Amino acid sequence: MKKMVKLVSVILALVMCVGVFASCSKKDDNVLTMATNAEFPPFEYLENGEMVGAEIDMAYAIAEKLGMELEISNIDFDAALAGPATGKYDVAISGITANDERRKNMNFSDPYYVASQAIIVMENSEIKVAADLKGKTISCQEGTTGEQFILDNKYDIQSYKTGADAIAALTAGKVDAVVIDDAVARALSAENQGTKVLEEPLTKEEYAIALKLGNDELTEKINKALAELKAEGKLVEIFSKYNLPMDGEVVVAEDAEATSDAVTSAAEAE
Ligand code: ARG
Repeated sequence: MKKMVKLVSVILALVMCVGVFASCSKKDDNVLTMATNAEFPPFEYLENGEMVGAEIDMAYAIAEKLGMELEISNIDFDAALAGPATGKYDVAISGITANDERRKNMNFSDPYYVASQAIIVMENSEIKVAADLKGKTISCQEGTTGEQFILDNKYDIQSYKTGADAIAALTAGKVDAVVIDDAVARALSAENQGTKVLEEPLTKEEYAIALKLGNDELTEKINKALAELKAEGKLVEIFSKYNLPMDGEVVVAEDAEATSDAVTSAAEAE
């Protein structure tokens, strides 16, 4: 009888172990978990409470290529950027600029879009070119390369959780300019009467998908999916749907190194 009890408890313990493992073992293998900050039109934003945008469409197209289901979490940008490193998300897709500083802490896919930092000012502003930013107060989104640009140039800075808050500070007269990614600058300016975007690009940056440092297997798979989407013309199709012309300038991986530190070098060139 004693033996029997022992056997039963061993079996019970085993069953419990399996149960614990199953619930602890991370998410479904067939689900691609993605972190984003849907405050970045037209790449990712909310429309009637739904996440839409070029990178949302791109993410679904990639997941489809991988034969995986996509699960998107909308969180703060700095949290999204750090997301893959924590193991909570497989990828972060959020208009993320791949640069050498970030490469120390994360894997990047091949780049898929070329962007720059741009300046938003009020229509009647005395700021006409980048050089006029000297001595001015500039707002930006927290944790972004735009913020880094302002810091590197030692301008007075006001960082906000979202780009929308950063431009609200401009229209409220709290700052003289906003520095944010060019396409987003155009989208935000269009929504805010009395503002305009200066044409002069401040940096050259490339967007890529962020993954956990060393997650080379998934990085490779995603690169393959991206390459296929490019070859099929699907990527250009997705981006042009959101008025994001790629100008045929879909950069190849080799170019990434040369331009990845554009922000710092632009700052150093000052
Ligand atoms: N490209 C900039 C960066 O990587 C800004 C990205 C902000 N993205 C967003 N979804 N809010 O820092």
